[in-house]
Amino acid sequence: AGSGYQAWLGYRQLLPGDRFDQYAVFNRIHVTETDSVIQTAVSELTHGLEGILGVKPEFAEQGKHAIAIGTFGNNPVVDRIVTAEKIALIGQEGYVIITDKKNACMAVGAATSNGVLYGTFHLLRLLSTGSDINELDIVDNPINRLRMINQWDNMDGSVERGYAGESIFFKDNLITEDHGRIRDYARMLASVGLNGIVINNVNVHKVESKLITEFLPDVAKLAAIFREYAIKLFLSVNYASPIEIGGLTTADPLDSDVRQWWKEKTADVYAAIPDFGGYLVKADSENRPGPFTYGRDHADGSNMLAEALEPFGGMVIWRCFVYNCKQDWRDRKTDRARAAYDHFKPLDGRFMDNVILQIKNGPLDFQVREPVSPLLGAMPSTNQVLEFQIAQEYTGQQRHLFYLIPQWKEILDFETYTKGKGSPIKRIASGSVHGNRLAGIAAVSNIGDEMNWTGHLLAQVNLYGYGRLVWNPDLTAENIAEEWIKLTFGDNENSINVIKNMLLSSPAIYECYTAPLGVGFMVTPHTHYGPDVDGYEYAKWGTYHYADWHGIGVDRTLATGTGYTSQYNSPNFERYESLADCPDELLLFFHHVPYTHVLHSGKTVIQHIYDTHFEGVEKAERLVTEWYSLAGTMNEVLHKQVAERMEEQVEHAKEWRDRINTYFYRKSGIADKAERLIYS
Ligand code: GCU
Repeated sequence: AGSGYQAWLGYRQLLPGDRFDQYAVFNRIHVTETDSVIQTAVSELTHGLEGILGVKPEFAEQGKHAIAIGTFGNNPVVDRIVTAEKIALIGQEGYVIITDKKNACMAVGAATSNGVLYGTFHLLRLLSTGSDINELDIVDNPINRLRMINQWDNMDGSVERGYAGESIFFKDNLITEDHGRIRDYARMLASVGLNGIVINNVNVHKVESKLITEFLPDVAKLAAIFREYAIKLFLSVNYASPIEIGGLTTADPLDSDVRQWWKEKTADVYAAIPDFGGYLVKADSENRPGPFTYGRDHADGSNMLAEALEPFGGMVIWRCFVYNCKQDWRDRKTDRARAAYDHFKPLDGRFMDNVILQIKNGPLDFQVREPVSPLLGAMPSTNQVLEFQIAQEYTGQQRHLFYLIPQWKEILDFETYTKGKGSPIKRIASGSVHGNRLAGIAAVSNIGDEMNWTGHLLAQVNLYGYGRLVWNPDLTAENIAEEWIKLTFGDNENSINVIKNMLLSSPAIYECYTAPLGVGFMVTPHTHYGPDVDGYEYAKWGTYHYADWHGIGVDRTLATGTGYTSQYNSPNFERYESLADCPDELLLFFHHVPYTHVLHSGKTVIQHIYDTHFEGVEKAERLVTEWYSLAGTMNEVLHKQVAERMEEQVEHAKEWRDRINTYFYRKSGIADKAERLIYS
């Protein structure tokens, strides 16, 4: 109980009085089907009821005093309770949960076993959060078809940008034997409705290239575990595999031997894993190989793989994180933010139907604040999937508290105007704006082999919330937080309020003491943890802030800058282009301004920098006080774990504050109006 391992699936016992009496009516399970996903649902329901009610549920022949779970047409009790009208509303992965009060029974019904599993997890969520289940009448379908998680795990056991220990999948260049832990992870993912996993890092090196050859039998074992939880397994592949492991001399996508090689290897993969999801590819990106070497483009490269996968129903997920990572800082014309759009937009219409482009939420790299990628929605004839990062690479690395759901909500609600009003990112991601067959959301996982999965216990909420939000982007950050708190810490009103407040205020606090006004980076090179204002300023990575004695920011306007603003549709283009209309929080992303420039807030840029950095630390200190107010209300070990991280956050926020304030004081020579301590 003190480890955090159970995460949100602890199913703690309700006490008589809670809603115990009404729940006790439903202590039997009625099931008629035997396939493996239904069996997963049954064992989860058994386990859940046992925890919540404190008694082992029985299996019932009849529907009375029972929860009936099953697919339509295969379970008489489900069929009796669920009307044809309801059935018509349910898609491939949706479910209904309906209470039949008269007969004291309940049905969790769906068109597929996968839907039954999601419905079962939802029912358990309702029970664990103490909801009234007497009159349930729920019809629920996921909004996004692809609900993916990307592991950045390497076979040596390390996790790229991992902040919670080592890989749970790989160790010593082998696939781990600890299938129990992997099964528990599958369970967590399924409980929040995720349905696809890429088990290895997008940076695929020689050993990982062999996941589709030598290691295939072991990969198949993992696929079998995930299959029981309705999750499809995918692999990241190395674009240069034909050379590196195939003995060919080229990886040219138009070379017939290369095409044949991929076809054969792909057939082997499907022979071992008939429901294999497909390949994820990082090509021509950050020194990874790709079609550019052969004078080909990304459509040529991805279509070659798509052709190999197509006969089996597989897909290629091709990443758009393509930019010049060997830029010269002296060159003010090249703008990394432009790169994805410039590379991919002209290729619209050339991709096969089973290719999906995976696009990071912002044009740079998961910064605390950046605008939404203008490539999202800009290719009407191409499938796209939106990429988030649950791992907190630039948002405190799971040592600082950062609740990511509010940030993702803002992104999902962003209006692209790609087909006029009514084209927000959430409808691009779901495929509904352009009518895509394949669409959805993917995110980089934040788990590792640490006992509590995520290092910072409270970072579990980001994994939980990711699944919930991707299932339904209209859920609110408040509701998701509240659900998670109840499931994790129990139903105590004070704790719920305190923790909810902490979570909801956390992104703004972090933003306060890091790089100001959307300018981004200013982090220690390589680790990306902690402040280093000029760390990347003269580097090749294309992430500059251009601070001088006079001002700061990147001019990305069409009029006088890199022209990045013109990648946006009207009226976003005009809003970002105009210094007067550009939102404060993104000002330095789009404009270079003097420190004396007055923001909409009425403050000068320099005063804003000082104020937010002092406030950020004060607010981080308040978070600690709030957390200490909960001592004694929860498991002591868990409380202490979090307290330690929160204290580290404060110390580290001070480092950010002082480095940033001093840097800008030295550059500008302008004093703080409030005369606080800035080290000169
Ligand atoms: C970032 C991150 C890398 C990662 C890359 C990617 O640059 O720092 O570690 O490989 O994104 O998304 O491919």
